[in-house]
Amino acid sequence: MAFLLQVLLLTLGLVLLTDANFISNAICSVTKSLGRSIDVGGIYFRSFPLGRCSPVKISDIYFKAYPRKCVGTNCRSSVNTPHRLLSLEDDPEEMRALFNQSLPTAIYTHGFLEGEKGSSIRAFRAAFLFRGDYNFIAVDWQKLAAGPWYLSAANNVRPVGMAIAQMIDRLVNIKAIDLSKLHLIGFSLGAHVSAVAARYITVGRVPRITGLDPAYPTFSGRPKADKLDPSDADFVDVIHTCGGLYGYTDPIGHVDFYPNGGNYFQPGCINVISFGTCSHWRAWRFFEESLRGGEFMGVACSSYDDYLNARCERNSKTPMGLHTNMTARGKFFLRTNWAAPFSVF
Ligand SMILES: *[C@@H]1O[C@H](CO)[C@@H](O)[C@H](O)[C@H]1NC(C)=O
Ligand SMILES: *[C@@H]1O[C@H](CO)[C@@H](O)[C@H](O)[C@H]1NC(C)=O
Repeated sequence: MAFLLQVLLLTLGLVLLTDANFISNAICSVTKSLGRSIDVGGIYFRSFPLGRCSPVKISDIYFKAYPRKCVGTNCRSSVNTPHRLLSLEDDPEEMRALFNQSLPTAIYTHGFLEGEKGSSIRAFRAAFLFRGDYNFIAVDWQKLAAGPWYLSAANNVRPVGMAIAQMIDRLVNIKAIDLSKLHLIGFSLGAHVSAVAARYITVGRVPRITGLDPAYPTFSGRPKADKLDPSDADFVDVIHTCGGLYGYTDPIGHVDFYPNGGNYFQPGCINVISFGTCSHWRAWRFFEESLRGGEFMGVACSSYDDYLNARCERNSKTPMGLHTNMTARGKFFLRTNWAAPFSVF
């Protein structure tokens, strides 16, 4: 009996050795047939992660353009403006009609667990359309950023970024948007996605990437090509609001802003309730407020302590958010209010 069992286990072992993919293939077919997703108040979960079992498909990434509707001379849109999905196969004429090539274009990429209903996409869409002076595209990669699979989502950063690069190439080639006025904005994992996109475009160089509390977990060990750094664009500005937990503490841009010191104790946030997400989310909330006219003045300084002790008052200043001076370099500190409006006037 024991002998038979030994033979059986040995055979099984050999089968597994000769076909190393045996188990993972079996698991994949199960996960593909049982994969379900649920959306809990804008937070996106899947029973199994997408990405490992099959190559990421460009059709799993939604490029959402929000063409403005003009009523008379008023071209501002409401938060309910419906999106138009972009595809690489779209007719160029139709694609051009969705954008105004003389306006700057903002492409926003969300983070882990988020999707179309996630509040950051909604907030940015509303703010950019309210301004009316930008073409706005939201990259919805919710299926690939679904929870609780952080590692899968982080591994999907590269293929999603490459897909965005293809879309940018297409939009620039058919003259729908102007590359010299392109601004990639990414929150958390989306910051690294934006960096990959910028690295893989073939039509030229991205002028600006804004990283909103770029995701830290697992990224220190990843290759430079897969994460945000100053080589990715002519100008990289970063806002740190959850340093030491979900976000980076070290500077990773040309300019790094540290509101309230930049760590995961943002004023108005209670970590035991929000598990740090409140502080993490402050990065996009601050940026969104800057789109609506909020003024956050950062002061160049080597540490938050020095800033608080008024040792940097004579140093240079630059606004945090949309209006950051692209010639500014280094670390900047500032304080904010505990609740919206966050900017201290
Ligand atoms: C495109 O934007 C420019 C600059 O704001 C504006 O002058 C022009 O009228 C716009 N074109 C259309 C078709 O809306
Ligand atoms: C940006 O900073 C440079 C150098 O400090 C300064 O000369 C320029 O006027 C600033 N631009 C704006 C728009 O504030």
